[in-house]
Amino acid sequence: MRPAAVVLLGFGRVGRAFTRVLLDTRSRLRERYGLQLKLRAILTSRGGLLAEDILSQPRLGEASREDVPALSGWRPGLGLDDVLDKVERGVLVECLSSDLGTGEPALGFIRRALARGWHVAAASKGPLAAAGKNLMESARRAGVFFRFSGATGAALPAADVGIRSLAGSQVIGLEGILNGTTNFILTRMQEGIPFEQALAEAQRRGIAESDPGRDVEGLDTAVKLLILSNVVLEADFKLSDVKVEGITRLSPAQVAQAAREGKKIKLLGRLETKEGVQALSVAPAVLEPGHPLFQVDGVEKGITFFTDTMGPVTLIGGRSDPRGAAAALLKDIIGMYGRLT
Ligand code: HSE
Repeated sequence: MRPAAVVLLGFGRVGRAFTRVLLDTRSRLRERYGLQLKLRAILTSRGGLLAEDILSQPRLGEASREDVPALSGWRPGLGLDDVLDKVERGVLVECLSSDLGTGEPALGFIRRALARGWHVAAASKGPLAAAGKNLMESARRAGVFFRFSGATGAALPAADVGIRSLAGSQVIGLEGILNGTTNFILTRMQEGIPFEQALAEAQRRGIAESDPGRDVEGLDTAVKLLILSNVVLEADFKLSDVKVEGITRLSPAQVAQAAREGKKIKLLGRLETKEGVQALSVAPAVLEPGHPLFQVDGVEKGITFFTDTMGPVTLIGGRSDPRGAAAALLKDIIGMYGRLT
């Protein structure tokens, strides 16, 4: 049995879902992957829990952020550096919400963990948008893993496929429905539901960003496209390189017109190569029924990679929700430690 220490940074929707997924999968991890994940710390902005076996605390599964100080092992003001000093080296699971321009506050924490020989599984997109290439190089230098499935489609295994399954081929382009909130809104609009009502439903499902403008203005799609393009091309595009248009200027009449013609409007993130020049864009597109992403409705997502040697490869599914994002973090950790074959 391989024990591995886990430190969880952030106890919002994804952080809480991650603890529940850890609780639910404990025996599977042991039996199938020979892995015993020991949750040693949970850090919030006010302090943290530090204990030998946080998963054994009976009220953990139902705890909200406000309940954490009442759990056993709470230390006000406890910070990441204290924990990295006290806990045996393992994996930092980063679930903060971060600025897309600076990557902070998560970026500084991730840098410190990598420099001290910790693996990192990241869920927030800011650090990857701001300094993805630099973080990957830092992890390589330190001989540790830096994985970020939770930030690039989460339950849709886009990063895994792009990095590992297509290894050896050249990705010439990609096209994806990468944001569950906008896809859900467009699906509901097609059913005649007004934009605002559909957005409120997406917020109730816990999938919209805390600032839903990031979803509907296309920014969340742009960042995921950016991160994926940078990893599959080993490039260093910046967010300012992506031409972004969201769905806020679409009228109900345009959505209804597409539906009458048997078509659908989807928000697509695209990487295209034209005459050797790569271009990144996000914009609504009218899809015909034969398009590989035509059937991707509701909170589902999808992506097609266009490659030179493997042709087009399409993935569909991986709906947006906090549990799916948490499961993507767990998948990344299993990839670091577990027996996969
Ligand atoms: N707001 C995102 C979405 C979830 O709707 O897909 C996190 O990436």
